[in-house]
Amino acid sequence: MIRSYQQAIRDIAKVMVRVKNPTRLLKIITRYLYREMQVKNTAMAIYDKLNQRYVFYDSRGDNRVPKSLIKLDLDNPLVRWFMKHEKRIMIEKDCITTDLIDNMLADGQLIEQDPTLGPRLEKMKETMRNLSACACFPGYYKKDLLGILFVGSKNGTGHLCDDELLFLQTLASDASMAIKTAEYQEALLNKIKALEESLGVIRLLRQKDREKYLQTIIALANTVDAKDSYTCGHHEEVEKWGLMCVEFMNVKFNNNKREILSTALRLHDVGKLGVPDEILHKKGKLTEEEWVKMKDHVRIGAKILEHHDDFKTVAKIILHHHENFDGSGYPYGLKGEEIPLESRIISVVDAFHAMISDRPYRKGLPYDEAIAELKKWSGRQFDPSVVEAFLKVLQKSIHVE
Ligand SMILES: [Fe+2]
Repeated sequence: MIRSYQQAIRDIAKVMVRVKNPTRLLKIITRYLYREMQVKNTAMAIYDKLNQRYVFYDSRGDNRVPKSLIKLDLDNPLVRWFMKHEKRIMIEKDCITTDLIDNMLADGQLIEQDPTLGPRLEKMKETMRNLSACACFPGYYKKDLLGILFVGSKNGTGHLCDDELLFLQTLASDASMAIKTAEYQEALLNKIKALEESLGVIRLLRQKDREKYLQTIIALANTVDAKDSYTCGHHEEVEKWGLMCVEFMNVKFNNNKREILSTALRLHDVGKLGVPDEILHKKGKLTEEEWVKMKDHVRIGAKILEHHDDFKTVAKIILHHHENFDGSGYPYGLKGEEIPLESRIISVVDAFHAMISDRPYRKGLPYDEAIAELKKWSGRQFDPSVVEAFLKVLQKSIHVE
């Protein structure tokens, strides 16, 4: 025998809050009723929005819902009764029992008032008989009939008492609310899952787009290399040294920052694509006008990169790779830490590589002389901390004292 109906409602409420899956929740309720209330059978039909009918999710007991009766259509008299709220006119309790139907059928005055009532009550009784139910309880959410709980007669006593009817009505109502909540949560989880899948696809597309863009820019940078015999192989070396530099500096570079630096080191002179060949390859000193065009390669490079959101940071680094530590560089004359660290790194390794490289009109400087130049311009053209780190890189990679 169930301990107390208030306690039972509290127990089931705890379960209802915990269980997020609507079908599982229904099964727990029907099994609980069958076990605790000792009724001959229980069943619960829930509204199936897609097919617009009430479907039995679970039934327990000696007389389980026959397989031929797995659904209740919207024109089923029982469903219509609860949907139309006719009960409010006829009965006090929010449920229908076979005893109540019999009483109404026996009330000649009532039947006479509405000629359709008798046949409808008969059909309701037939539905309940098919389900071996002696009482059924509607569950509403707002005005919508979400489900109907069917309960058979009790073992032993047969009839359900008023307390039991009230308990079952409360349960049907609470269960409907819990099922609605569980349905919302399930729908929400499905939406989140679908959204995450979409985001994954977007990320993949963006990654592919990014790689395609990067490949195009690298191809452009290679075109610059091909145009200028000096730059052939220059960028690979500069990239390697620049990344090694970071390891000897007291700065934190995560993988993302390393990747950005690597791209910037590789592409820093891509803007030379926009510099006329006669200026790029001129052996003598550049005129002032030619020098202006040459200096413009930093802006052109930045413009090429900033078109893609993922390369805006790289564009900024490229824009400032000819700024000098003392503010005497271009294009903005930034000084010290106003210049991005990555730009200051490029400035040192790029200048060093340029000094040691052979040009058509001059031979490259020996390493010791180029190192002396770095030291000489440290604090003026170059960031001293970068020069210090770079000298360690050289010591490590080419064993120069
Ligand atoms: Fe440059």
